[in-house]
Amino acid sequence: MTLIRWLALPAMLIATHAAWAENDPHSYAEPQVVSVRALALDLAVDFDKRELAGNAELALDWHDPKARSLVLDTRDLVIETVAAVDADGRESKASFSLDARDAIFGSALRITLDEAAPRVRIRYRTQPVASGLQWMAPAQTASRKHPFMFSQSQAIHARSWVPLQDTPSVRFTYTARIEAPRGLRVIMSADNEVAHALDGEFRFTMNQPIPSYLLAIAVGELAVRETGPRTAVYAEPAVVAAAAKEFEDTEAMIAATEKLYGPYRWERYDILVLPASFPFGGMENPRVTFATPTVIAGDKSLVGLIAHELAHSWSGNLVTNANAQHMWLNEGFTTYVENRIVEAVYGRDVATMQLVVDDQELRTEIAGMKPNEQRLVTDLTGIDPDEGLSGVPYDKGRWFLRFLESRYGRADFDPFVRAWFDSHAFKSVVTHDFLAFYDENLARKYPGKVGLAEIDEWLHGAGVPADAPVAHSTRFDAVDKAAADFLAGTLAAKDLPARGWVTYEWLRFINALPATPTVAQMKALDEAWKLTGTGNGEIAFRWYVATVRAGYTEARPRIATFILRIGRRKLIIPIYEALAKTEDGKQFAIGVFEKAKAGYHPLTRGSVAKVLGVAE
Ligand code: BES
Ligand code: ZN
Repeated sequence: MTLIRWLALPAMLIATHAAWAENDPHSYAEPQVVSVRALALDLAVDFDKRELAGNAELALDWHDPKARSLVLDTRDLVIETVAAVDADGRESKASFSLDARDAIFGSALRITLDEAAPRVRIRYRTQPVASGLQWMAPAQTASRKHPFMFSQSQAIHARSWVPLQDTPSVRFTYTARIEAPRGLRVIMSADNEVAHALDGEFRFTMNQPIPSYLLAIAVGELAVRETGPRTAVYAEPAVVAAAAKEFEDTEAMIAATEKLYGPYRWERYDILVLPASFPFGGMENPRVTFATPTVIAGDKSLVGLIAHELAHSWSGNLVTNANAQHMWLNEGFTTYVENRIVEAVYGRDVATMQLVVDDQELRTEIAGMKPNEQRLVTDLTGIDPDEGLSGVPYDKGRWFLRFLESRYGRADFDPFVRAWFDSHAFKSVVTHDFLAFYDENLARKYPGKVGLAEIDEWLHGAGVPADAPVAHSTRFDAVDKAAADFLAGTLAAKDLPARGWVTYEWLRFINALPATPTVAQMKALDEAWKLTGTGNGEIAFRWYVATVRAGYTEARPRIATFILRIGRRKLIIPIYEALAKTEDGKQFAIGVFEKAKAGYHPLTRGSVAKVLGVAE
C-alpha cells in the first residue's frame, strides 16, 4: 500500500460524506430543527370503516431555539386537530396546514406553534387506501371467520398510518393503547405478551428508540405457540402448529448470532406469520418479525429468511441506515450475517449453496440494470425507495463484506463486525461512518491487505468487482452434471439424481435450464418431479417463469392459483413479468389480476398493475 493511496482516503470520505450532509431525500421532516423523541399512540381499530382513529402525541427535542414550526410526514391521513401540550399537560390549539399530496412522498404536515412546545397532540384518522396497511375481509383469512389487518411501514409507509418524522435518521421510543374488537389479538413491534387477554384493549411500550419504519401493528385471530424461553410464533390458528415446527430452531439461531456478534438486545424474538398476501418475505419489526407463510416449506429449507430478519436485530434495528441511499448498511450486513447464522446452525454446505445461487442470480440481475443502479451507495433523490429495491444492497453488499472477510480472515473480521454493532448501537449511520470505522479498526491495524481503490470500487463502482471471492459448492457439481446431461438428452428426467435434493439444489437445476426450454423438457420434468403445484415458493416461482418462457401452458391453472393466493412480490412479480412478454400471456395475466387484485396488498397491487400496464 502506497502512501498516496492513504492520502486519497480523506477525499473519498468527503465525497461519500456529502450524502449525509443532505437531508433524507424521502422525508419532509427537518430533524436538525426539531426531532421526535417519543410517540404515544391511542388508536381504535375499525374494521367496518377500515380505519385507525385517535391520537398521536409526539414528544419533541428542539435543536433550534428560535424555531416554531414542526414539519411531519403524512400520506392520505385525515388530520382533525393539532394541539400544543405544555409541561403541565395543558393543551392549546395549534394551527396547521397540509401540503398538496405528492404521489411518492405524500403531504407535509406543517404545524406552527407559539412557542417551542415540549409535545404536540394530533387527532387524526387513516383512510382505507393507506399504503402501509392491509385490511382483509374474513374470506381472505384461513378460518374465514374474522377480519385481519397488518402494517408494513418500510420503506416510507409509516406516514400513511401515523403522522411522524418518517426518516430512519430519527429514533424514538413509543407507547400505544389500541382498541380492537374483542376476541382478536393486537401485536405491535413492542412488548407483546403471550398470555394477553383478548379483551379489546392492548397497551404496549417500546422503550428502546427505533426508527419510524419499524413501527408495526397487526390485528386478527391469532393463536400463539412458544418455541423457547424468549421465542414464540403467532399465526392464524390453522397455521400455528406448522409454523412453530418450522421455526423451532429460532433459539439456536439467536444463540449462534450472539456468539458471533454479542448479546441479543431486544429481550424477546417472536415471529408473526401473516396471511399469504403479505407483500414481503419477512419484515424485521423489533421483537416480532412479520413473515410470509410461504417460507413454511415443511422441511425448514427456507428458514434462512428467519435468520435474515433475526440478523436485522443487529444490522438495521440496532445500527440503522440513516436513509435509503445507504441501505446496504442494513441489507448487505444482514444478508452477510444471515449466511453466517445458516452456516452455524445448518452447516457450511447449505450456506455455500445459498451463496452460489445468490451470486449467480445477482450477476444475471445486474446485467439488466443501468450502471447507476448497480452501485452500493446510490442517489435516490426523487425516487420512490420501494422502486430502488434490488439485489444490489443485499447480495452485492454481502459480497463486499465477504471480500473483506476473505482478506482479513475471520479471526480479525468477526470482532470488527461485532465492534461495529457495539459502537454504533441505537444510532443511525451512513457509509461514511462505516468507512471511518473500517479505516481505524481494520485498514490501519492490518495494513497492506486491502487497497483503498478496491474499497472505492465496491462502494461506488458498477458491476461486481473482479476481486470478488468465488463461492464453490461441490454438491452443485453433481447438479450441474445432471442438468447438462438432461439438456443434452442423455439423461431422462426420471433418472435425475434428485431424490435427496434440497431446495437450493432444485434452484440450481432450474437456473441451469436454457432461456426457452422446450415444452417436452418441461413436461418430462413435471411428470417425474411434479414441480407444477409445488408448495415451495422459491422453487415454484422460478419453475413457473420457466414454464412461461417455454410456452408450457399446461402449468397455467396452477400459476393462477399461486398468484391468486400469494402476495409476496418477489414470488409473483417475475411470473407476471414473464407472462407480460407475450400478448397471449399478458391477457391471461390480466385476467388473473382482475380476480386477484381485491385481495392484494396495496403495494403488490401497484407493482403488478405497473408490470401489466393496467389500472389498479
Ligand atoms: N427489511 C426488508 C424488507 C424491506 C426492504 C421492505 C425494503 C421494504 C423496503 C426485509 O428484511 C427483507 O429483506 N426481506 C426479504 C427477505 C429475504 C432477503 C430473506 C424479503 O422479504 O424477501
Ligand atoms: Zn432485510
